[in-house]
Amino acid sequence: MSVTLSAVSVRVPAKVNIQLEVGALRPDGFHELRTVFHAVDLCDTVIAARSDALELSLTGPESAGLPAGEGNLAWRAACALAEHAGIAARANLSVHKAIPVAAGLAGGSADAAGALLACDLLWGLRTGTEELARLGAGLGSDVSFALLGGTAEGTGRGERLAEITDAGGFHWVLALAEGQLSTPDVYAELDRHRAGAHCAARKCAEPAGALTFGPHNAETAQVMAAALRSEDPRRLAPLLSNDLQSAALALAPYLEFTLRTGQELGALAGLVSGSGPTCAFLARDRADAEQLADRLPATGTCRSAYAVIGGAPGAEIIGETVVP
Ligand code: C5P
Repeated sequence: MSVTLSAVSVRVPAKVNIQLEVGALRPDGFHELRTVFHAVDLCDTVIAARSDALELSLTGPESAGLPAGEGNLAWRAACALAEHAGIAARANLSVHKAIPVAAGLAGGSADAAGALLACDLLWGLRTGTEELARLGAGLGSDVSFALLGGTAEGTGRGERLAEITDAGGFHWVLALAEGQLSTPDVYAELDRHRAGAHCAARKCAEPAGALTFGPHNAETAQVMAAALRSEDPRRLAPLLSNDLQSAALALAPYLEFTLRTGQELGALAGLVSGSGPTCAFLARDRADAEQLADRLPATGTCRSAYAVIGGAPGAEIIGETVVP
């Protein structure tokens, strides 16, 4: 028996990139990536309810100043899905934001993924997972991963995913920064660094050609996969890396202080998450993560800090209301 739903709630996680290698700038303006995405249980909730028009409202600690219309990725996701299905985009979307945007945590992509899944069920479309991921990739490089969750290798511009099995339960602390960093600005800064380094090495005799990835091979991937399967964060700690980190630090030098302070307070390792400015610290266990999250904000090196667990599920339905 088919039921008509009046509302669908979806929970969707933030991500950190525990390895991020940035390759060449492509003609479409994106960079070729090889990354390991890791979902963490700092989550937004997207509710889609029946309505005669498309509407969007935002609540929650990270909702201030965000666009409640076309400028919002959740809105664009609902439009993209409706267009794909050949129907009018009619839904009342409410997004509860705990994940900051422009923070390196895929906060906007999470809401797009949440809206895709919630509207798909609300409208009874039954679009397959792969098709939703394809639509998501058209909205942002991280949307496909927000749908999948867990841990996965991302290639292409980050939208081609291969799941990695992990033991689950690594404990992290996310240190949220006062400001924001624009993702395109951070990539552009990395390109400038690289062009400068290339010029210095070649005395500018030739333009910077296609950049290739650093040393990464099947063995590197296996070492990472084995560390993720182990329950030992000490095996994971030395493997964390982010090619965007130096560019993020050049644009937001105060993050050096955040990274140093996290390690001084006992983190096993720390890195800038994605394009920043959030810093992610790997802790030994839950108690250490909670203690670090308590102590970090008092040092003045971040505005708030959360203890989170890695390997969180991707966008998932947490509630459905049936029309009586
Ligand atoms: O896809 P997303 O909206 O996250 O991309 C935002 C911007 O980040 C892009 O317009 C591009 O400037 C940069 N980017 C990139 N290479 C990627 C992903 C993002 O250069 N693989």
